Amino acid sequence: MAQKESLKEVFKNDFLIGTALNSFQIQQKDTAANRLVLQHFNAITPENSMKATHLHPQWDKYNFTLSDQLVAYGRQHNIKINGHTLIWHSQLPAYVKNLNNADSLKQYMKDHISTLAGHYKGKVFSWDVVNEALEGDGSLRKSIFLKLLGDDYIIDAFRLTQQAAPDAELYYNDYNIEGLTKRRAAIALIKKIQAAGVRIDGIGVQGHWAAVHVPLADIEQSIQEFSALGIKVMFTELDLTVLPSPYKRDVVDVSQRTLPNTPATNPWPNGLPDFKQAELSKSYEDLFKLFLKYKDKIGRITFWGVHDGQSWLNNFPIAGRTNYPLLFDRSYQPKPAFYAVIATHHR
Ligand code: XIL
Repeated sequence: MAQKESLKEVFKNDFLIGTALNSFQIQQKDTAANRLVLQHFNAITPENSMKATHLHPQWDKYNFTLSDQLVAYGRQHNIKINGHTLIWHSQLPAYVKNLNNADSLKQYMKDHISTLAGHYKGKVFSWDVVNEALEGDGSLRKSIFLKLLGDDYIIDAFRLTQQAAPDAELYYNDYNIEGLTKRRAAIALIKKIQAAGVRIDGIGVQGHWAAVHVPLADIEQSIQEFSALGIKVMFTELDLTVLPSPYKRDVVDVSQRTLPNTPATNPWPNGLPDFKQAELSKSYEDLFKLFLKYKDKIGRITFWGVHDGQSWLNNFPIAGRTNYPLLFDRSYQPKPAFYAVIATHHR
């Protein structure tokens, strides 16, 4: 039986409630998920279909089919669409990664942004213009964009998007930017974009956290500091892993950094024990209490997936685990964490 409470209804005066859609859901083949989307969410982000590998696989070839379906679906149901993402070092086709001169990469960036942002002009509410441009130490990521174009490629990306889609909101999106080092770097980056006279409307904090420890103090501090720059704060890829971290701290070689899929790293293949379910609920409750406290500064909270069965965390950073990071379970039923989130509003 479907529950009566709807996330988007409960938080309708606070912030948008979004979800990421995979290709089955965009094609409306995951009917139970699509029912949940219409009941609970008023914002959608394509999980993969607008990334360069999917949408722009060759220099002069664009694959708009799936993304057009997503946009039509959103518009039909009055759901706001966040385009994800224009400039990112990952899921970038080889023909771009192999470029070796600035002129060609500049041309790619210009064509890519003007074609995508232009195609969806007036249809996409917002764009994650640049994704994950910062390293953990706060320096600019040593991507192909930085190497060939220098620091200002980020400003150029925002300027190009602004020209191609003047009505779309423009965001910078990244992970761990709530933490001090990357937060400071993100603030400097935003100030630089603003000082260049280029528009930036918001910042997306991805929000891939662990249920066992959500960094609430850092999150609160970052909402305050980011919004003080005059931009909206979004939580754009929220999920809370409940599985043990697979990273070995003492191993430096990147190829050796993760532990294999074993009973120790994948302890709950047949269901989440009550104490972990309670931990997940409490973490979501604490987070939403914080989000409500700052609702005037927060534009949107987007979950990275509709239900546990489709979450990327079943396959990252170890393939084939069983994770439980979202509000709906593998049978599309609301979990205790769902009710905990709803209840934060009623207090
Ligand atoms: C992930 C998708 O969920 C996966 O399906 C895909 O294989 C890899 O990318 N940060 C981002 C998202 O900005 O685009 C990533 O999405 C998750 C991390």
